[in-house]
Amino acid sequence: FIGPAPSTSAQPSTYGDYESTDVFDWDNLGFKLIQTDYMFMATCSQDGNFEKGKLNPYGNIELSPSAGVLNYGQGLIEGTKAYRRNDGQIFLFRPQESAIRMQIGAERMCMLSPSTQQFVDAVKLTALANKRWIPPAGKGSLYIRPLLIGNGPVLGVAPAPEYTFLVYACPVGNYLRNGTQPLTLYVEEELHRAAQGGAGGVKAITNYAPVMKAIKRAKERGYSDVLYLDSVNNKYIEEVSASNIFLVKGKIISTPAASGTILEGITRKSIIEISHDLGYQVEERLIEAEELISADEVFCTGTALGVAPVGSITYKNKRIEYKVSPEPISDQLNSRLTAIQKGIIEDKRDWIIEI
Ligand code: COI
Repeated sequence: FIGPAPSTSAQPSTYGDYESTDVFDWDNLGFKLIQTDYMFMATCSQDGNFEKGKLNPYGNIELSPSAGVLNYGQGLIEGTKAYRRNDGQIFLFRPQESAIRMQIGAERMCMLSPSTQQFVDAVKLTALANKRWIPPAGKGSLYIRPLLIGNGPVLGVAPAPEYTFLVYACPVGNYLRNGTQPLTLYVEEELHRAAQGGAGGVKAITNYAPVMKAIKRAKERGYSDVLYLDSVNNKYIEEVSASNIFLVKGKIISTPAASGTILEGITRKSIIEISHDLGYQVEERLIEAEELISADEVFCTGTALGVAPVGSITYKNKRIEYKVSPEPISDQLNSRLTAIQKGIIEDKRDWIIEI
């Protein structure tokens, strides 16, 4: 099933033997694929139970040309991260949430899914097997990508007869090419990311290829990303291509309600709770694009992105600029989130799992 492991840029790959190593340039990590040593794989056929699964060298997988995922897009992704603290301790941030989101997605896409325990164990195993690829504290993180695919063969439109749960990992730094520069968003009025009743609320692989055209157009015009509107009224904001959006006005922070067309990000969820801790009122509701004009501050959140301020949004050919205040709310929220992750402040909600 597994092809030979491709060679990696750093030397040898004995499982577990390495701390993050100085053979690699940790200062220039972006969000691009770096092959690591191991990936986890487990399959499941119609009996509904995933086998225990195991680590394999990272490498190509073999698929039938009629695999459900290739023909009908029966697949889900997840994203979660492992971090290294100053004291060398490795931890994961809320991997159970990703497991549950995968189960909800699997139900929507008629797929079989691993249990929360199987998912979390596989994430842990993958992180530890690729431990030498976890960047030193403060340099980035190990992005862990769980994948669930219908790999069994089908011809008609029907659930695949077999599923593969695969987890691989890659060291990452900033998601954005321009580092920590504020986002410049373009409100897309023609192309939509998701429709009511569709699969926009789950992390289906089929949510991502359709936004590439909008992202490409926006980038050609000099914007960093796209903000999508609802497909019924073309009036309410939904989300950015791979992140959720928040507006701040006074002591109220608003974010589009997760009513089926936006992805319920784990960073989104965490930031809502942290906003309450910091004394903000949070509204999850319909937000008209026109409200962008009067917001004091706008920011986006995502596992890959983190918490990123928005510098401008262009809507109906008008550019709305957000001035960067000395202490932006997004910075305060981000500092609190990263302080929990770094163990600087108490993790009262058990978000952190030390591995
Ligand atoms: C994540 O934040 O984990 C994402 O899913 C973004 C990814 C599609 C690049």
